Amino acid sequence: HARDAHRTDLMTITRFVLNEQSKHPDSRGDFTILLNHIVLGCKFVCSAVNKAGLAKLIGLAGDTNVQGEEQKKLDVLSNEVFIKALVSSSRTCILVSEEDEEATFVEPSRRGKYCVVFDPLDGSSNIDCGVSIGTIFGIYMVKDEGKPKIDDVLQPGKNMVAAGYCMYGSSCMFVLSTGTGVNGFTLDPSLGEFILTHPNIKIPNKGKIYSVNEGNAKNWDNPTTKYVENCKFPNDGSPAKSLRYVGSMVADVHRTLLYGGIFLYPADKKSPNGKLRVLYEVFPMSFLMEQAGGQAFTGKQRALDLVPKKIHERSPIFLGSYDDVEEIKALYAAGE
Ligand code: AHG
Ligand code: MN
Ligand code: MN
Ligand code: MN
Repeated sequence: HARDAHRTDLMTITRFVLNEQSKHPDSRGDFTILLNHIVLGCKFVCSAVNKAGLAKLIGLAGDTNVQGEEQKKLDVLSNEVFIKALVSSSRTCILVSEEDEEATFVEPSRRGKYCVVFDPLDGSSNIDCGVSIGTIFGIYMVKDEGKPKIDDVLQPGKNMVAAGYCMYGSSCMFVLSTGTGVNGFTLDPSLGEFILTHPNIKIPNKGKIYSVNEGNAKNWDNPTTKYVENCKFPNDGSPAKSLRYVGSMVADVHRTLLYGGIFLYPADKKSPNGKLRVLYEVFPMSFLMEQAGGQAFTGKQRALDLVPKKIHERSPIFLGSYDDVEEIKALYAAGE
């Protein structure tokens, strides 16, 4: 069936995007070139992650980033790889990375029309123990190619033209949406190509899994506390949900996308805006969830409607199966 066809169809991510591009006759292939450079970066990071233990790439880099986090060697390495790959594509004009305090404005001779926001290595705390980690990215069009400015990357997530992630796990999977659904590609190491293995991913309307760091429970607000309580002690006779929490957003979201359920990183008394960063964690994952038939909510509004004021702004996030997110929206609507 469809899954096995890829053995002979050899639908690589490049061919897939070229097919998409052919639907826009006026396009000059800029997006395809940009995506190829992002894919190149992911292949490099995938190989570095797989060799990390052997190539002494685990452990700290000895610096802290703007987030106040100790940077791992792979955080720094993957950030450099993506910045270089994106600049060399000559299709970008502004880059925002979790690991760089300021946005990068590409010099005019190498400027293109896309703004890329990215988390070069997501789940850094899991690097040294070999648990899945990933890269997350979102792509905006610059408003005025002649004059790129910081507002071009402070647009609501609904303005993104594309978003995706790469997960460095037991297999290396690239999940992408360009606004017409979600497709998953698996790296075939023998070919060095990402092959279409999960066409048109749709998230189940309801799931049996909830994913949250229960260690923050004492600081949660009432709606979140009530929601998690209902997951564990349902009052409608339905079975309790299972808890699955990897601690790498890419891994937790990928499982939620394929199996259904809900992922939450709520606000708490210590961090009133939660922990996850709007531009390169909340927006890309919310974009993918909506494109797959799910939804994403901040506790106050649709996540993709948020208008960030700062490039490293954080927001609480509840995303996943449509019906599951509806339940938490009802609890926040009912208030304290
Ligand atoms: P990053 O490694 O890019 O800084 O992101 C880590 C994030 C995200 O991957 C994950 O969902 C979350 O941190 C886990 O946070 P807690 O350890 O507080 O649960
Ligand atoms: Mn980090
Ligand atoms: Mn992250
Ligand atoms: Mn990161």
